[in-house]
Amino acid sequence: MTRATWRTRLGFVLAAVGSAVGLGNIWRFPWLTATNGGAAFLLLYVLVIVLVGVPGLLGEMVIGRRSRRNPVGAFGELGGRPWRVLGGVALFASVVVLSFYSVVGGWILRYTAASATGAYFGAPQQYFAAIDFGVGAAAFHALFLLATVAVVYAGVDRGIELATTVMVPGIVVLFGGLAVWAWTLPGSAGGYEFYLSLDVAYLRANFFDVLVAAAGQALFTLSVGAGAMLTYASYIDEDRSLAADGTIIAVLNTGIGVLAGLVIFPLLFSLGVSPGEGGPGALFVGLAGAFADLPYSRVVGVVFFGVVLLAALSSAISIFEVLVAYLVDEHDITRARATAGVGGLFLLTGSLAALSPGLFALLADTIANLALTAGLLGFLLFVGWVLGPAAIDEYRTGAGTVARMTGRPWYYTVAVVLPLFLAFTLVSGLGGVLGVPVTAPQAAAIAALGVVVAIALVRHRVDTAV
Ligand code: PFF
Repeated sequence: MTRATWRTRLGFVLAAVGSAVGLGNIWRFPWLTATNGGAAFLLLYVLVIVLVGVPGLLGEMVIGRRSRRNPVGAFGELGGRPWRVLGGVALFASVVVLSFYSVVGGWILRYTAASATGAYFGAPQQYFAAIDFGVGAAAFHALFLLATVAVVYAGVDRGIELATTVMVPGIVVLFGGLAVWAWTLPGSAGGYEFYLSLDVAYLRANFFDVLVAAAGQALFTLSVGAGAMLTYASYIDEDRSLAADGTIIAVLNTGIGVLAGLVIFPLLFSLGVSPGEGGPGALFVGLAGAFADLPYSRVVGVVFFGVVLLAALSSAISIFEVLVAYLVDEHDITRARATAGVGGLFLLTGSLAALSPGLFALLADTIANLALTAGLLGFLLFVGWVLGPAAIDEYRTGAGTVARMTGRPWYYTVAVVLPLFLAFTLVSGLGGVLGVPVTAPQAAAIAALGVVVAIALVRHRVDTAV
C-alpha cells in the first residue's frame, strides 16, 4: 500500500498550524497567563517557544520525515526494536491529551449552539456548572469526536489537508475581526495593560514557577511531545526545508495565540471580569457571560465559539491521526477500521473524563504536561544520540543556505541543551505533583544527573547494537 502524502507544501503547513492552534491558544493560554502574572508569562512563553519549542518541533519533524512512519514504527525503523518504546510514550501522550481535549471540544460545541439560543445568557455560572461534567458533557464530547472521526476517515489529503486549508485561514480572519472589534469596546484598555505590560518584580519573585508553566504551555501549543508533528511530517513527500516550515508553523501559531489574547483580555476587562477567575472555566463563565451584555450578543457568541470550534477540531484531528497512523502502518489494517477503532477508544476514555471532574483535572492539569515533556525529552535524546549526524543530514535535506547553516547549532541544542531544560521542567513538575517541592537548584542537579546517565545508557545501547 502506498503511503499517503500531502498534496501541497501549503497543505502541510496549514495542517500543522491547524494542529498547533487550538484550545491551547484560546482556552488554556488566557487562564495560565492570568494566573502567572500576565505579561511576565507571555514573555517567558514566547522565549521558550523560540529557544525550545522550535528546535524541539524540528526534532520531531526530522524523525517523521526520515522514517516516513508513525511514531512507533519511526523509532523502530531508525533505532531498532527497543526504541519503539518511545513511540509508545507518544501514543500514551496522545491518548491523555485527546481524552480531555475532546471534552472541552464538546463544551465548545455546546456553547456554539447555546449562543444561538442565548441559553447561558441569564446565568452563565450556573449554566456552566450544569453542563461541564455528566452525561450531557459525554454526549457533546461524542459529537465532537464524531466530527474528528469524519475528517480523519476521509484521509490525509482529502480529509485533513482539505479541512485545515479551509479552517486555518477562517480562524485568522475571524479572530482578526474579533480583535479589532474588541479594541473598540469601552474599557478594553485595561486588558491590553494587563496582557502587555511587564511586572518585573513579579517575574523576579516567581521566575521558576512561571518558567515551568510557560514551558509546559509552549510544548502543548506547538503540539510537540505526542508525535502529532512527527506523524504529519511523515507525510511530507518531496524534500523541503524543515527549518523553514517549522519556523513558519511556530510563528503563525504564536501570532494566532497572541491574537487570541488580544480578543480575550480586552473583552474581559471591558466587561469587568477578572481573567484569573474560574480557572479552566474562565472562557465559559467569564467570557460567555460577558457576551450576554453585548449588542448582537448571539452573533458574537456564535462567531466566537465557532472559531474556537474550528481551532479545536483541527488540533484534535492531528492527535487522532497519530493513533490511526500507528494502526495503519504497524498492524496493516485499513484506515476505515483504524479510524473506527480509535474512535471507540476515545469514546470510552473521553466519556470517563466527561463524567469525572477529578480524572479530567488529573489529565488536563498534570499528566498532559508531564507526558508531553517526557515524550519530547525522549525524542530529542534519540535525535541527538541515536540518530546522531544523520539528523543533521535530514535537517539539511531540502534546506536553503541559511537553514543549512543552522544544522549544527540546532543539533547541539537538541542533543544537549534541550534535554537538560526539559529534564529540569520535568523534575520540577513531578516534584509539584508528588508533593515534594524541589528547589530550582535541586531540580537542575537531578536533571543534569539524569540526562548524563540517560546519554551514557543510550550510547552504550547504540555501541552494543552495531
Ligand atoms: N496544540 C494544540 C493546542 O494548542 O490546542 C494541542 C495539541 C495538539 C497538543 C496535538 C498535542 C498534540 F499532539
